[in-house]
Amino acid sequence: MSQLSEAGGAARDLAPEAALALSGVWKSFGGLEVLRGIDLQVAPGEIVTILGGSGSGKSVTLKHMIGLLRPDRGRVFVDGEDVTLYSERAWVEVRRRFGYVFQGAALFDSLSVAENIAFPLREHLKWSEREVRERVRECLAAVALPGIEQKMPAELSGGMRKRVGVARAIALEPSVILYDEPTTGLDPANARRIGQLILALRKRLRATSVVVTHDLEVCFSVSDRIVLLKDGQLVVEGTPEEIRASSHPDVREFVGGLEPSEVGDGPSSSEGEIGQ
Ligand SMILES: Nc1ncnc2c1ncn2[C@@H]1O[C@H](COP(=O)(O)OP(=O)(O)OP(=O)(O)O)[C@@H](O)[C@H]1O
Ligand SMILES: [Mg+2]
Repeated sequence: MSQLSEAGGAARDLAPEAALALSGVWKSFGGLEVLRGIDLQVAPGEIVTILGGSGSGKSVTLKHMIGLLRPDRGRVFVDGEDVTLYSERAWVEVRRRFGYVFQGAALFDSLSVAENIAFPLREHLKWSEREVRERVRECLAAVALPGIEQKMPAELSGGMRKRVGVARAIALEPSVILYDEPTTGLDPANARRIGQLILALRKRLRATSVVVTHDLEVCFSVSDRIVLLKDGQLVVEGTPEEIRASSHPDVREFVGGLEPSEVGDGPSSSEGEIGQ
C-alpha cells in the first residue's frame, strides 16, 4: 500500500482489519457516471486524503462511506462489516461511530453553538443535561474555542464556524471522521489550525480519518496516504513523499510547481497540540 501505484484494474483482496473499505463502487446520477469502480481501504488510525478536481466525485465518495448514498454496484465495509445493503435504521447505528464534517460548516443557524454540538448527543444518547453540557464544553476546548456555547452561528467567523462543525462531528467521540473540504475559505493560519486539529484528534480518539481537500498544505502535512480521484477512478495513491516526488502527469497537474519546502514536513513533525 505504501508504494506509489496505479490503482484500478482488478478489485483487491479486502484486508480484514480495514476500518473502512470501498470495493468496486460504481455510482451514476442520471446518465452521468461519477464513480467507476472505486477501491479504497483505510486502516484503523490512518489519515487518507482524497484529492481531485471539482466535480470529480470526492463528496460522493465520502457519502458512500457513511451511507448517505448507496452504490449502484460494489460494496462498502465498516470495521470489516459489509454494510452495503443495510437499512436506513441499521445505518443510523453505524453512523454513531462516524463524525462527518460537511463541506461548508452546515450548522443549524437557529441553534446556539452549544445546541449545534449537542444535537448528535441528543439524537443518539439519553444523557442528562449535565453530561451533555460537559461534553459540549470538552468539544469546544478540543477545537480551541472554549466558552462560546451561547453564541449563534451568525456571530462567528468562517474559521470559527468550521471549527464548531468539527466540534459537532467529534461530539460522539467517533472512531472514524470524514472531513469534506475542512479548510476551504479559511486564511492560511486558520487552515493550518484545522490541519493540527485533524492530527490531534487522531491522537486523542485514535480516529481513522478521510480528508477531502484542495488545500495542498493541509494534505501534505496531515496525510499518511494520498489518493487522486479522476474520471471516476482512483488513479494514483502514495505517501506524501511519493506523491511529492511523482512524475505521474495527473499528480503533476495537481501538485505541480510546489516545492517540498512549501508543503510541510509530514505528519511526524507537525503532530501536536492544538494552538489558538
Ligand atoms: N445527489 C446527487 N444527484 C445528482 N447528481 C449528483 C448528486 N451528488 C453529486 N452529483 C454529481 O456528481 C458529480 C460529483 O459531485 P461531488 O459533489 O462528489 O464533486 P466533488 O468532487 O466533491 O466536487 P467539489 O470539489 O466541487 O466539492 C457532480 O457532477 C455532481 O453534480
Ligand atoms: Mg465536494
